[in-house]
Amino acid sequence: MDTVVKLERHDVIAVVTINNPPVNALSAAVRGGILASVNAAIADPEVKAIVLTCAGRTFIAGADITEFGKPPEPPGWDELLAVLENSPKPVVAAIHGHALGGGLELALVCHFRVATKDARLGLPEVKLGLLPGGGGTQRLPRIVGVEKALDIVTSGQHAPAKEALEVGLVDELAPEGQLNEAAVAFARKILAEKKPLVKVRENNTKLEVAKGHPEIFENFRKANARKFRGFLAPEKNIRCIETAVTSATFEEGLAVERKLFMELMAGPQSAAQRYYFFAERQAQKIPDVPDDTPTHAVKKVGILGAGTMGGGIAMNFASAGIPVTIVEIKGEALDRGLKVIRSNYDRTASRGGLTPEQVNQRMGLLNGSLTMEDFAECDLVIEAVFERMEIKKQVFADLDRICKPGAILATNTSELNVNEIASVTRRPEDVIGLHFFSPANVMKLLEVIRGEKTAKDVIATCMKLAKTIGKVAVLAGVCHGFIGNRMLNQREREANKLVLEGAIPWDVDRVLYDFGFPMGPFRMNDLAGLDLGWVMEESRSSTLREVLCEMGRLGQKSGAGYYDYDENRNAKPSPVTDKIINDFIAKSGKSPRKISDGEILERCIYPMINEGAKILEEGKAIRASDIDVVWVNGYGWPVYRGGPMYWADQIGLDKVLAKMKEFHATLGDDFKPAALLEKLVAEGKKFADFEQPA
Ligand code: 3HC
Ligand code: NAI
Repeated sequence: MDTVVKLERHDVIAVVTINNPPVNALSAAVRGGILASVNAAIADPEVKAIVLTCAGRTFIAGADITEFGKPPEPPGWDELLAVLENSPKPVVAAIHGHALGGGLELALVCHFRVATKDARLGLPEVKLGLLPGGGGTQRLPRIVGVEKALDIVTSGQHAPAKEALEVGLVDELAPEGQLNEAAVAFARKILAEKKPLVKVRENNTKLEVAKGHPEIFENFRKANARKFRGFLAPEKNIRCIETAVTSATFEEGLAVERKLFMELMAGPQSAAQRYYFFAERQAQKIPDVPDDTPTHAVKKVGILGAGTMGGGIAMNFASAGIPVTIVEIKGEALDRGLKVIRSNYDRTASRGGLTPEQVNQRMGLLNGSLTMEDFAECDLVIEAVFERMEIKKQVFADLDRICKPGAILATNTSELNVNEIASVTRRPEDVIGLHFFSPANVMKLLEVIRGEKTAKDVIATCMKLAKTIGKVAVLAGVCHGFIGNRMLNQREREANKLVLEGAIPWDVDRVLYDFGFPMGPFRMNDLAGLDLGWVMEESRSSTLREVLCEMGRLGQKSGAGYYDYDENRNAKPSPVTDKIINDFIAKSGKSPRKISDGEILERCIYPMINEGAKILEEGKAIRASDIDVVWVNGYGWPVYRGGPMYWADQIGLDKVLAKMKEFHATLGDDFKPAALLEKLVAEGKKFADFEQPA
């Protein structure tokens, strides 16, 4: 028998244990091992029931994603699922950790499911641009009902065990630390009851309720249209469940599921989303900071500044149960900051996301103060004061004086030089950048900025801490704008140039929106506020943005910016903006030209990719996929296009380079191709092939 699956017998109960670390993915070896063990148990006349369980940290987390796109290896899914489902002896799945995707589908062909209280169950295939291809779309609605099933498969979210019990996905919860014992006891109980075994596929009661109600699906599509925009997988997941309701037989539903699964698997979106799954995990690996690097315990956090960013950053830690001391200069600013935090928590509570007790508990972890001396015992202090170097330096000199030895001193600066900030302290090895994104309590991305002298244990601690507070961390080197904003600046520059050449802002926005961004650059700036970093006294009416600010058109918050906004904050193209643009063009003496959608896209995105290449060649990002993780998590790059560097690889770097050269010849040095782009093309390589020199 295969070593990854073990068969033991506890008198009449056979226990099949899967042991395929780290997450017991259903590789060919695991499938083969389960099949052999279950067949042996069925054939053994002494065995009356079978328990299927996993060793290590989790139940089966799904199919082995690394096998996707390769020639299939036997045994196939159908054979494995059929043997379990048709077993004449009851099969009980014993679930701890996660039962996801193919893992849950396997559990659904078992006759019963027992789970630990902290287990989580889900069908997250949609996040890989797929649908559950092992019967999940046909069996799930038979257990939980159509509406709940639609929710589970299109969100990909994991249901906690308690909820799984309530909706019937799980039959019993096991006492702490006794999963296998509970599953064996459950199997004995079933044997004693001598009831006939029921297969999930035979239970149609919950489907009957939805028959003749196509509006369930139409309403669901309408309600989620914005969320699903651009993605292929959600619609195909919905269609499978619709088919479960409308088809005459279970097999018919399965056939549709299989067909749509194969279509998605062969398509570019799933390839991009699977790439992205591994990119996010790869970003956690830093070649010279190995996994076993010692880390600091972070039990108390200090935040300096309770403004837009400080408040949001503080919420991350309070929500993770870590006490936070927030220091401000003035009482009013502190009160305002704490009030904003409370109202954010209250809003979540009013939508059912938190109980009032949880809100109080989190607020109870926040301790406001007007003196930095209160940071003395903090393990980590994050500075989020005004973006001015002289203020940052003063603050870091104070932190150096006040904080205990070994405390990590972090800055949330969005572009200032972290080395220069660190240089005012006697402990630059403890200084690091933690660049959160606004709103900091919501956005998943955290750029961790490694200074010249930042110690490895400090980096390891911050990467680990990011996970604790639910962020996706990417390591970046010190440079202006780090990874994300440095590339964004390229897009901003081109968007602004385009409108002075003849494109209009609403066209630029439309092209980027259609590409898959949640909004285009002009809408985004209107939302953020056009006066960010703008000073009236220094304003020279030299750019469209300056003129808009001088007119008091500060963006959505003032009812007008590039766009005009109605009382419901709907954006309308503005004749005022049109006129300012036309005045600029007239003054320049050039005549506007018709600019195609294709050029708008290339002008906005190719320079970003080129900048990404420079970031890589300068060693400011470890690998191209890290850049993609930044753009997907921090800037709304559509995950079904993988990220800018992946996208460039798919287009072909030779094509990107050729276009950059063409733009360079006609539009000047903003388009000078990066040396790395030229080199990769000359070598016939992709960004994905690039490795930093050792
Ligand atoms: N296949 C192959 N490798 C996988 C895997 C999978 N299904 N799931 C996780 N891994 C790998 C990760 O790449 C990572 O490898 P690394 O250590 O070399 O980087 C390692 O396992 C640990 O994963 P995480 O770092 O993500 O560990 P966490 O503890 O944070 O999370 C988890 C665990 C919640 C299980 C998370 O890994 C996860 O969500 N996995 C994917 C689950 C999934 O998408 N399942 C559906 C697969 S598609 C399917 O089943 C098709 C079917 O319907 C036919
Ligand atoms: P903000 O102006 O909203 O808040 C700054 C707060 O710091 C104010 O409440 C101010 O009273 C306080 N403050 C100033 N000096 C102080 C001092 N010496 N001691 C204690 N408190 C002090 O600014 P915001 O937007 O929160 O930005 C803070 C930092 O975060 C800046 O470095 C900024 O570049 C960075 N950042 C901002 C982002 C954004 O979208 N707003 C995004 C990412 C980073």
